[in-house]
Amino acid sequence: MPITVPPPPMRTNAPIPTWFGVGGGADLLARPESLDQLCACLESDRRAKVLGDGANLLVADAGVRGMVVSLDHECFSAWHQTAQSPTHVTIRAGAGVRLPRLITETVRAGLGGLEGLAGVPASVGGAVMMNAGGAMGQTGDAVSAVGVLTRDGATHTLLRNTIAFEYRRTTLFADPRRPAPAPELGPPVVLWAEFKLKKTDAGTLRQRLKRVMAAKAATQPMGERSAGCAFKNPVLRADLPGMGVAGSTLSAGMLIDRAGCKGLRVGGAEVSARHANFVTAQPGALAADVIELLRQVRQRVDGAFGVRLEPEVVIWGDAL
Ligand code: EPU
Repeated sequence: MPITVPPPPMRTNAPIPTWFGVGGGADLLARPESLDQLCACLESDRRAKVLGDGANLLVADAGVRGMVVSLDHECFSAWHQTAQSPTHVTIRAGAGVRLPRLITETVRAGLGGLEGLAGVPASVGGAVMMNAGGAMGQTGDAVSAVGVLTRDGATHTLLRNTIAFEYRRTTLFADPRRPAPAPELGPPVVLWAEFKLKKTDAGTLRQRLKRVMAAKAATQPMGERSAGCAFKNPVLRADLPGMGVAGSTLSAGMLIDRAGCKGLRVGGAEVSARHANFVTAQPGALAADVIELLRQVRQRVDGAFGVRLEPEVVIWGDAL
């Protein structure tokens, strides 16, 4: 696609806002104000990283080389209705829309399908890329289509049946007859998602939403700085006597708890005493503290149970 506009003005050495609140900045932080400007950003750095709500993200203390693109401008963060039937309404929400706000508004409008995601902090783009969710539902359940921009500057509309939504992982171009163009340059950028929502009594939806929030508040350190669950729930490769059989999924939180990690601390990073799969950042914490603590937790669980945990949190600028 020929570029007709220049990229937007960029901030240099800019802090990257994350829920952890630790870590370094971006060499360049761009906030495009149109699709053309976003294309121009990718033209100047094909490997630019896309920032969502920073809710599942840990940035290393040394920061990120190259460009980070934030889609929080209003042109990427609005939503509107695109279709309606006697039973359903389809809405299209920009990648930069904050999921909690979308949930509140759709519940208020009597549209069901997203309320199970209550308490999941994310942007729509991030939630689609991660298939964010929990026991009460995952993002892919309500998605009917996703609009993406590939790194070669082309836009595509992907229908639900061509997307593979898996556990905290989404393959947007899952149709082998239509592979993603230039995947080696980086993942496609989600521009919007359509959600097919069921017309439902608003009071019923509000009750469901309250139940989900109450369950989380009772078991998770909601008000603290963290990236939600740090590790994915593992699938057992072999029987673990008294805990599960090969092929079953276990709670990473339970494994970390039983390995005696609650309260474990490195610098300002701590394994939550409330839910062991949450690592929280206390005042003064460094990203290096969080990363070292995650390593120690992984080692302890491996040592105790022979289970290797995989991070759910996305790490920029380092690896576990
Ligand atoms: N448990 C412990 N100790 C702990 C934590 C949990 O023994 O410290 C036990 C619980 O008692 C329960 C079991 O582990 O028997 C499962 O715990 P929970 O219901 O909290 O679910 P989870 O599998 O740990 C998952 C998601 C959460 C999501 C909740 C609720 C993952 C990794 N975690 O947690 O998602 O909020 O279900 O739907 O899939 C996230 O993705 O960031 C996240 C927090």
